[in-house]
Amino acid sequence: MSHLTLDTATSRANPTPAPMKRLTIPAIRNRKGKEPLVMLTAYTVRMAQLLDTHCDILLVGDSLGQVIYGLPSTLPVTLDMMIAHGAAVVRGSYHSVVLIDMPFGSYEASLEAAFASAARVMAETGAAGVKMEGGEAMAPTVRFLSERGIPVMGHVGLTPQAVNTLGGYGARGRTNAEHAKIIADARAIADAGAFAIVAEGVVETLANTITAEVSCPVIGIGASNQCDGQVLVTEDMLGLFERTPRFVKRFDDLAGRISAAVETYAAEVRSRAFPGPEQVYPARD
Ligand code: KIV
Repeated sequence: MSHLTLDTATSRANPTPAPMKRLTIPAIRNRKGKEPLVMLTAYTVRMAQLLDTHCDILLVGDSLGQVIYGLPSTLPVTLDMMIAHGAAVVRGSYHSVVLIDMPFGSYEASLEAAFASAARVMAETGAAGVKMEGGEAMAPTVRFLSERGIPVMGHVGLTPQAVNTLGGYGARGRTNAEHAKIIADARAIADAGAFAIVAEGVVETLANTITAEVSCPVIGIGASNQCDGQVLVTEDMLGLFERTPRFVKRFDDLAGRISAAVETYAAEVRSRAFPGPEQVYPARD
């Protein structure tokens, strides 16, 4: 497919990588209870290049719907969007395992539909696996794909594709019934063969219980530092948005820094200070 080809002679976004070996799904699975897994989202080739050596997993999350496309939720994200961004992230990375989120509507209807969608993702991006939201109801799908060569990362707790059913993006697991249901979800997905599970927006004690009870690594977001790893949306942790949820730590203030840089640029254009002598081409003698 065209997604997999890149004219490196003309691409300034594709520096030659230092030789390195890409991590594998079994290596990720073996990190259960060991050094915490480092996972971030990436949607573009350049961001993938910048994150790659620091991370174990790059997730092409369907959060790209809001972060890149300004959509109101992840629900309108399509398989084609995920594949285009997924292929870019694979092209920009050489070390991390790249996983692609299965978008809403591409996997829920039947085992066959899920396999067809996931097989497209794998074939057209070169990614190592997929992530899909859902608990007990999705366990047969996780098993079907895992047994047919498609590694699956599960996603339980706050599952944003179910926002209309859940009624919002609030933390989950505060009632006994919800607590028990989310543990059952995680167990079912792990037993079905998921190589890892994201636990999103769950109370800390619940995250700790899930981490202790399932045999695969549990990666937290808004969960607990006792999980087997952590994931954040990169643009959130870099401070690209003014408003960030409670569970996000802003490791930088990129929004402020971009704004300051662009303010300086605009001033220099208006005063004709830019371009200066170093940025123009002198005539030949
Ligand atoms: O879509 C996404 O970015 C995610 C992570 C936040 C886990 O699912």
